[in-house]
Amino acid sequence: MQSAIRKKLLEAFSHSEDEFLSGQSLADIVGCSRTAIWKHIEELRKEGFILEAVRRKGYRILETPDSVTENKIRLGLQTKTLGQVIHYEESVKSTQKIAHVLAGDGAQEGTMVIADEQTAGRGRLMREWHSSKGTGIWMSLILKPLLPPQKAPQFTLITAVAVVQAIEEVSDLHPQIKWPNDILINGKKVTGILTELQAESDKINSIIIGIGMNVNHTQKHFPDELQTIATSLAIEQGNQLSRSELVQNILERMEVLYDLYMKEGFTPIKLLWESYAISIGKKIIARTINGNIEGRALGITDEGVLKIEDTSGVVHQIYSADIEVNV
Ligand code: BTN
Repeated sequence: MQSAIRKKLLEAFSHSEDEFLSGQSLADIVGCSRTAIWKHIEELRKEGFILEAVRRKGYRILETPDSVTENKIRLGLQTKTLGQVIHYEESVKSTQKIAHVLAGDGAQEGTMVIADEQTAGRGRLMREWHSSKGTGIWMSLILKPLLPPQKAPQFTLITAVAVVQAIEEVSDLHPQIKWPNDILINGKKVTGILTELQAESDKINSIIIGIGMNVNHTQKHFPDELQTIATSLAIEQGNQLSRSELVQNILERMEVLYDLYMKEGFTPIKLLWESYAISIGKKIIARTINGNIEGRALGITDEGVLKIEDTSGVVHQIYSADIEVNV
């Protein structure tokens, strides 16, 4: 986690665009000595930021590293709450695990854990989540809505909309959502969402939203078992993308949608979600723990539950399942 000085310094650079900022003006904005500013500039340089320093003009950032460090995400981030506290680690077992501990210790809303690599990333149903170094976005976000625990699954759907919008913002791609938590491009999975809960019987303490996004993978980054089912944004787009810009976009979109949801409820989110959904109107199989249900996907309820109409006209409500589309 960062000092308040570093945070203010990066905010000042975020607003300065290409302009130089003098050592004195930075010291005034940030509220510290010019020597302290210089030390922070050196820290940024060590991290791979290229800063130009010109006498009587000051400093400006020329280039930033391709990373997802706290400094890189902070530079230009336009949110009020989400991502205002960032825990970055180069390599962790799972960001989700760390976020759970932080949430239990009273982390503030919007706290985010992000890593360059996960060695034991996990997906839904305790499946393994492949998280190779320097290629993707492996992040967990802590939210603390004043809501009953039954509302938690809706956060998977809110996040899915935020992720699709963020991808559309930074690329030419048009991802689709497969209920409940998969984001697909050309039928292959590019992002998974894992929503977990710390709650009492009537109230949520924290929601921990894990997002795993394959960004700059080439085909050979994926293990054999994922070759035909996973893809990355770079594979689909044909060029590499900035992971930090994507993270900023996800946080910004998520903040807007979260506000909307807390003010107006799930209906506006539901409409957005359905506009991106792959399965609506199609024949699908839902593989649930109680067996398979085959039929046509009608949409989702106001609670985010999937509705399937079977061949005899019975409508089933699906709370948890793996979905196969186009059967
Ligand atoms: C899924 O599709 O099954 C969900 C995958 C979620 C993966 C993310 S990566 C960041 C966070 N940390 C984890 O260990 N898992 C989630």
